[in-house]
Amino acid sequence: MNNILTLCYLIGSVTFILGLKMLSNPASARKGNGIAAFGMIIAILGTIFLYKDEAGESLHNYGWILAGLLIGTIVGTLAAKKVKMTAMPEMVSLFNGMGGACAALISVVEFDHIYQANKMLGSPWFSDAVPLGHYIAIIAGAIIGSVSFAGSIIAWGKLSGKVNDFSFKGQHIINLVILAVVIAAAVYTYQSDTQVSNIPFFITVALALLYGVFFVLPIGGADMPVVISLLNSFTGVAAACGGFLYNNKVMLTGGILVGAAGTLLTILMCKAMNRSLKNVLIGSFGAKNAATGGEKTGSGGTYKEISLNDAATVMAYANKVIIVPGYGLAVAQAQHTCHELEKLLEEKGVEVKYAIHPVAGRMPGHMNVLLAEADVSYDKLMEMEDANDEFKSTDVVLILGANDVVNPAAKDDPSSPIYGMPILEVEQAKTVIVNKRSMKPGYAGIENELFFRPKTSMLFGDAKAALQKLIAEIKNL
Ligand code: TAP
Repeated sequence: MNNILTLCYLIGSVTFILGLKMLSNPASARKGNGIAAFGMIIAILGTIFLYKDEAGESLHNYGWILAGLLIGTIVGTLAAKKVKMTAMPEMVSLFNGMGGACAALISVVEFDHIYQANKMLGSPWFSDAVPLGHYIAIIAGAIIGSVSFAGSIIAWGKLSGKVNDFSFKGQHIINLVILAVVIAAAVYTYQSDTQVSNIPFFITVALALLYGVFFVLPIGGADMPVVISLLNSFTGVAAACGGFLYNNKVMLTGGILVGAAGTLLTILMCKAMNRSLKNVLIGSFGAKNAATGGEKTGSGGTYKEISLNDAATVMAYANKVIIVPGYGLAVAQAQHTCHELEKLLEEKGVEVKYAIHPVAGRMPGHMNVLLAEADVSYDKLMEMEDANDEFKSTDVVLILGANDVVNPAAKDDPSSPIYGMPILEVEQAKTVIVNKRSMKPGYAGIENELFFRPKTSMLFGDAKAALQKLIAEIKNL
């Protein structure tokens, strides 16, 4: 039986790696997710029905286990089916928090087993009965899992508007003090009298939860996607600790993959925004400078508006149009209408492509997923570097709800908070049309000089409504 279980774990591990690899390409991502999920099902069923401990005992409590699986499957499926694309980071953070809680609970249960056994045996010191390596796996899983759980719940609260940013002077020092006390309590637990070792252990867990809350509370709400990715890597490490505890290879592989992928994603996101992780964690980005809409002037001068008829004409008679999607397209849920415009223009002989900035939207791959939902062909999507080469030969760039990712201040203004962030250099095209609802800034909270430049015209309105009107105008030409 144990050989079959090992085979189940091997299948699980291989499918996780294969699935992760396939997730790196939009064309294979959906299949990759399915393959990894299949591997997970094999690993779970194998554990439930084939696992035997050293005494040859199978698992007990099948009723509870299967009921838990059923409830989790129903809740997870319904939540994933119902969630809107714009609320995806919230759901990811909630699910990640659950993963952290599970990892922490594994450590709590494992600690309690050892604590109860030691109490019965009457070992005087906790450290006498538990090898240090085993204890490190327990306590690391408990601390990291608790931080990830509490932090993810706060991140979810912030993204859903239920929790406000909260910071006070010296908060980062207090956070460091809490962290130091958590580590001290963890060390003390190992050295303590077996009979009372549960007290410092639960203090460690409680303080780790508090640290998770304090760690995320002061971070600007808009920076939550980066924080969630970081917390995701924490959950992976906590799960890997569970793998060490139970000598469970698939948990170890899964945990390490999540830990590594979360860390790499955090680094990539910071790099694409040209910000350090430290700046994300302690700099309140995007909270200030919200400009009021309505004026026709800004620091860059006067901006001009374009009528729907003119916009339709200039696009319908162009040779090449590049669409730049941004967060506003996701808010407006205008991806299907956008695809309709693309097809209409192509019928008129216009070449249409999409320029995708790596941090457009609010989560990695946001625009790719959004456009895939509307069946936009993958080979129409250009990455930033390729798009920047192609703008020169483009007649019209249509910007749909994007702002920061086309802000020239990132190149021209060393005092700008986004200075150094690579951008889509749309100004190389002959004409730039920007669709958004007002002159309000985007995520970074800063004005965009592009809107005041001679080549740019503003087409105000909700992206979906504006695109619908644009399509009607083009059809009437
Ligand atoms: P933003 O700079 O956030 O700009 C989005 C624009 O969409 C806003 O200026 C808004 O202007 C407009 N908008 C909102 N609702 C709209 C609607 N219904 N119809 C039309 N327009 C609408 O977006 P971006 O250019 O995609 O840049 C993404 C930003 O998020 C970057 O600063 C990036 O660093 C940051 N970020 C990204 C990620 C990832 S991984 N993608 C993670 C964290 C942070 P109005 O209000 O005037 O309409």
